[in-house]
Amino acid sequence: MIAIYPGSFDPITFGHLDIIKRGAHFCDRVIVAVLRNPNKTPLFTVEERLAQIRLTTRHLPNVEVDSFEGLTVTYAQRQGATALLRGLRAVSDFEMELQMAHTNKTLSTQLETVFLATSNEYSFLSSSVVKEIARFGGPIDHLVPKHVAESIYRCYAKTHPVSALTEPTLAEAEPPTRMLHE
Ligand code: PNS
Repeated sequence: MIAIYPGSFDPITFGHLDIIKRGAHFCDRVIVAVLRNPNKTPLFTVEERLAQIRLTTRHLPNVEVDSFEGLTVTYAQRQGATALLRGLRAVSDFEMELQMAHTNKTLSTQLETVFLATSNEYSFLSSSVVKEIARFGGPIDHLVPKHVAESIYRCYAKTHPVSALTEPTLAEAEPPTRMLHE
């Protein structure tokens, strides 16, 4: 099964990575697809987000990263996908996600939306929350990969004790489990 995981990913968080990893477990291929949305003013360009996601998922062999314009179903059909992956964090997500799934079903009956319940430790996490914390100088290293945290702080021109700007290692692209379970 080929699944598309569509979204804004501005930026990718450990919550997104959790869905990607779990999707990659039961799908043959997962394509993380960044929407090119001219109506939004993102923190990162699409190209920056693609690079961030590629670095974050480079240890997952059946995960690809791409961008698309227009309808998600059209892109999914072009890729030969049969499923759309979406994460559900809380009841508040449900209404919008269900509406989107129903809308997409009217556009393509062949495409199923598969909802994955977000892991407990990420149930509060969103890209917006990360940006809000960073804007006020708070710590985000436990919410996004280290290289993403560094890019966010650079954007907000903040000084923060994330370590020197070095090429991240594979281990650094993973959530710091020690902090998550504290
Ligand atoms: O990460 P997001 O912002 O919650 O992702 C929303 C996204 C990109 C999945 C959704 O806005 C989308 O699919 N947009 C493409 C346009 C589309 O297909 N619209 C019809 C379904 S509502």
